[in-house]
Amino acid sequence: MAEQHAPPPKLDPNIPHTARVWNYWLGGKDNYAADRAVGDQIRQVIPDIVDSARADRLFLGRAVRYLAGEAGIRQFLDLGTGLPTADNTHEVAQAIAPESRIVYVDNDPLVLTHARALLVGSPEGRTDYIHADVREPEAVIEAAKATLDFSRPVAIMMLGILNFVTDDDQADAVVRRFLDAVPSGSHLAIAHPTAEVNGDAAREAVRIGNEAGVAQMCLRDRERLTRFFDGLELLPPGVVSCSLWRPSESPFGVPDEVYQFCGVGRKV
Ligand SMILES: C[S@@+](CC[C@H](N)C(=O)[O-])C[C@H]1O[C@@H](n2cnc3c(N)ncnc32)[C@H](O)[C@@H]1O
Repeated sequence: MAEQHAPPPKLDPNIPHTARVWNYWLGGKDNYAADRAVGDQIRQVIPDIVDSARADRLFLGRAVRYLAGEAGIRQFLDLGTGLPTADNTHEVAQAIAPESRIVYVDNDPLVLTHARALLVGSPEGRTDYIHADVREPEAVIEAAKATLDFSRPVAIMMLGILNFVTDDDQADAVVRRFLDAVPSGSHLAIAHPTAEVNGDAAREAVRIGNEAGVAQMCLRDRERLTRFFDGLELLPPGVVSCSLWRPSESPFGVPDEVYQFCGVGRKV
């Protein structure tokens, strides 16, 4: 694990916290009353916020299954990992290809304390955790080289993370730097909150989160999200609600749109 020398994190359970609020919506146990209070406040303006968080994770599962299966990817750089939950990237990838290598990256001290759970992979593969800021791609790439071979295709996973890089130019530069570091055949997966569905409620939810001090974040629309894939082959169905990205067959018809949108592109 990189930066094992990091000092023990000081975590205040009274201050709501992004990763813990996300964990609460996902039905996890790693959250406190302050997180649940903000989570519930946001749920009052977006009643289906839980569906949105879960649709993000289900997209992660379908995207990784596609990448490890059909696309033959064996290396994953999971940026903005979050707290371990069901079907983490290494579990999905290594169930298909046990030799898969996964590097998790998060800058949150709380995620660092839980990282051990992410490091138990298949004996044939490898997982690593880097405590770093995604806004410093050079440092992330250098540390990831201990586990990933950057001359071979890598899937760059950016689910629920670019919304914390609120400056558009900086977000573009971060995405470009990671893409420049990987060869053709690599992929980029993004999931990001939008105002495409029930925009007023989404904006109000962001206002509540930002004022509560959870973490400053932004929404981006479909057109702006599509631009992150400029120069890549954007795979069908393009940038859509997470619930509509290659959904599993269901006898209950087409799923509803959620406010978290996503896409997967291939570097040609
Ligand atoms: C909403 S969670 C998403 C977790 C997971 N990727 C998913 O989609 O379920 C966002 C995660 O990004 C992390 N994060 C936010 N800003 C970051 C930054 N600048 N560098 C690294 N991680 C960051 C947070 O700590 C949090 O764990």
